[in-house]
Amino acid sequence: MPFDISKARGCFPALQQDQVFLDNAGGSQVLDVVINSMTQYLSQTNVQLGASYRTGSVSNTKYEEGYQAAAKYINAGRDEIVLGGSTTQLFMNLANALDFHEGDEIILSKMEHETNVKPWLFMAERLKLKIKWWVSDRSDGLRLTAKNLKPLLSEKVKFVACTHVSNILGTIHDVREIADAVHEAGALLCVDGVSFAPHRNVNVKSFGVDFYSFSWYKVYGPHIAVLYASNSAQEHVKSMAHYFNPGNTLEEKLGFASSNYECTQSIPYIASYLDGSIDAITEHEGKLQKILLDYLNSRPDTTVHGSTSADSTVRVPTVSFTVEKISSKTIVEEAEKISNFGFRWGHFYSKRLCDEVLCLGPEGVTRVSMVHYNTEEEIRGLVSVLEKVLPKI
Ligand SMILES: Cc1ncc(COP(=O)(O)O)c(C=O)c1O
Repeated sequence: MPFDISKARGCFPALQQDQVFLDNAGGSQVLDVVINSMTQYLSQTNVQLGASYRTGSVSNTKYEEGYQAAAKYINAGRDEIVLGGSTTQLFMNLANALDFHEGDEIILSKMEHETNVKPWLFMAERLKLKIKWWVSDRSDGLRLTAKNLKPLLSEKVKFVACTHVSNILGTIHDVREIADAVHEAGALLCVDGVSFAPHRNVNVKSFGVDFYSFSWYKVYGPHIAVLYASNSAQEHVKSMAHYFNPGNTLEEKLGFASSNYECTQSIPYIASYLDGSIDAITEHEGKLQKILLDYLNSRPDTTVHGSTSADSTVRVPTVSFTVEKISSKTIVEEAEKISNFGFRWGHFYSKRLCDEVLCLGPEGVTRVSMVHYNTEEEIRGLVSVLEKVLPKI
C-alpha cells in the first residue's frame, strides 16, 4: 500500500496552519486521536489510580493499557519498562539506581545529545568509576561501530552508552553489532533511541540492548518518555521505591509516580497509528531526504555533517549542514524573513559532538529535521528558499 500522505497529514491538527514544521527532531506534532483521548481522560476519568469505585477503575484500566501498549510497541515485557517525564529524567533516575564497584570503567561517546552523557558522569562521580571516551572521526564516517569501540573494551568496562541515531548527524548506528561487542566484554549497553524512534520500528529484543529510552513527544504523542531495562540488566538496578511498596518491576523501582496519567493513557493511540506504517514511512522519508541532500551535495561550499547518502538504511531525515561564508544562524534568520519554514541552528545539546568532533563554531549547524508528514512539495519549497538565502555559486 503506498503511503497516503494526505491521510496522514489529516491526522495532525497543527498541520492545518500556515507553517512548515522542519524542527521535528526537537519535537513532533501531535496526533488528533492523542489530543482527543487526553481531553476525554481529563474531562471524565482523572482520579487517583488504585481506587475501586467506578471512575477509578476506568482510570486504572486506561493507565494500564497505556503501559501495555508501550511495552508491546518496543517488544518488551510489561515489567521491563517505566514511563516518565523525559528521556533525560529517566536516564537520571537510572543513573541514581545503577550499582557498580569503585574503579569499574564506563565508556561514553562524544557523538551524543548530553542526555546520554551527563547522567553517567554523575553516576561515575557517585560510584567512583573511570570514564573512557569513544569517538568516531570523519575517516570512520562519523559512525560508532563495534570496530571503533573494541579497542576501548576490557573486562574492567561494565557499562557503555551510545546513541542509536545522533540528533545532528542522522546516521543510524548498528546497535545490534555494538551490543554484541559490549556483551562479549561482559558489560551493559544503554542506547538513546530518541532520534531513531520517530522513523523506524523499535524492537529492544532484536537490538539486544540492556537499556533503551526515547520520548513520545517526538513520536507524535505528548510529553512523556519510556525507559526499557531488560530483566537481566535490572539485577544491577536498585529499587528506589518507598520501603512499604514492592520493588520488583522497573516501574516499581524507578517510577516515582511520574508516569503522567493523561499522557500514559494516550500511548495506545500512537502505537495503533504507527502499526504497520513504518515501511511506508521509511520509503516516504527516503524521498524527502533525497530532495534536500541532492541539493546540499551539489554545492561545493556546503558540508553535510553525517552521511551524504539518502539511503534509508544508512540515515533518517535529520539533516545538518554548514555553508562557507554564511553562518548557520544567518541561514535560519534569512529563511524566516522570506518563508514559513520552521527549522533551526545550533548545537542541539550535542555540544561535545559539535565542538570537539565536528570542530564547529558557536553557531553549530543548520538542521532540517523531517518526518513522514512533511511533503515532497515542502522540501522542494525549502530548496527554493535555500537557493535564495545561500551564497550564489
Ligand atoms: C538524541 C536525543 N536524545 C535525548 C534528547 C532529550 O530528550 P528529552 O527531552 O526527552 O529528555 C533529545 C532531545 O532533543 C535528543 O534529540
